[in-house]
Amino acid sequence: MTSNPDVTRRTADSPGSGGLAGRTAVVTGGSGGIGSAIVRALARQGVTVAVADTDEQAEALACEVGGFAVVGDLTDPEMPGRLVDQVTERTGSLDILVNAAGIQVRTAAVDISAEDWDRLVSINLTAAYRLVQAAAKPLAAIGGSIVNIVSLSADRAVPGIVPYGATKAALLQLTKGLAVELGPSGIRVNAVAPGYVTTAMTAAVLDQPDFRERVLTRVPLGRLADGGDIADVVAFLASDAARYMTGTVLPVDGGYSIT
Ligand SMILES: NC(=O)c1ccc[n+]([C@@H]2O[C@H](COP(=O)([O-])OP(=O)(O)OC[C@H]3O[C@@H](n4cnc5c(N)ncnc54)[C@H](O)[C@@H]3O)[C@@H](O)[C@H]2O)c1
Repeated sequence: MTSNPDVTRRTADSPGSGGLAGRTAVVTGGSGGIGSAIVRALARQGVTVAVADTDEQAEALACEVGGFAVVGDLTDPEMPGRLVDQVTERTGSLDILVNAAGIQVRTAAVDISAEDWDRLVSINLTAAYRLVQAAAKPLAAIGGSIVNIVSLSADRAVPGIVPYGATKAALLQLTKGLAVELGPSGIRVNAVAPGYVTTAMTAAVLDQPDFRERVLTRVPLGRLADGGDIADVVAFLASDAARYMTGTVLPVDGGYSIT
């Protein structure tokens, strides 16, 4: 995309600078442990949120926060475009895209099935990429923001989830490349890399006392994260308080990555 001089850039002097009230967001994986916390954090700040997920719980959450749900499989190539169209038709704009939908497959890398590899890449990477393509125009019209949820495994070797880490590494690289290409259009693109968060995705390992203990010994803050710990940082990156930040990845891990 080329530079759009007509975009009114949000600056420190913009009315409501730092605030998010009145804006519109799409949160994919919005029914999940981290996604639902992001939905609630944004809604608390006055954002109208489209909760996008395969899980029909999205309806109840949307009702709770005064947003709306878009239930469907984001790996369907038509779905990202349909989602963005629905949001812009209902609200007239799109300010924030949060790519939080994802899956994890735990297996030795050489043993992963072709189907599981394809599922991982389709949702963790391709769906996020298609959503950016679909959302770029409305986001550029308003000087919007994209936040991708990556992982500490994006830039470190974690046995058992190597293919998952590869999808997150690609999403991290996409974040940086898109930040450069979309910056001139007024769109900021950043990522958050959570440490261990207690959600359905991690329950199988964190419910094992030994595993949990091993993780905790490496977390200087001495506890696992909950979705809210991640959500507040996502809301910060989406807000005008982060108006001069793009192409960054913020670890939100209680210090795990420095130990
Ligand atoms: N939990 C952690 O410790 C952790 C750590 C680092 C990164 N992450 C990342 O955070 C994001 C959220 O993970 P979570 O822990 O909340 O997991 P979760 O399983 O609770 O939530 C994931 C959500 O994505 C949705 N989803 C999956 N496939 C989809 C599809 N095809 N179309 C639409 N929605 C789909 C699921 O229905 C679910 O609601 C993921 O991208 C994950 O990789 C999680």
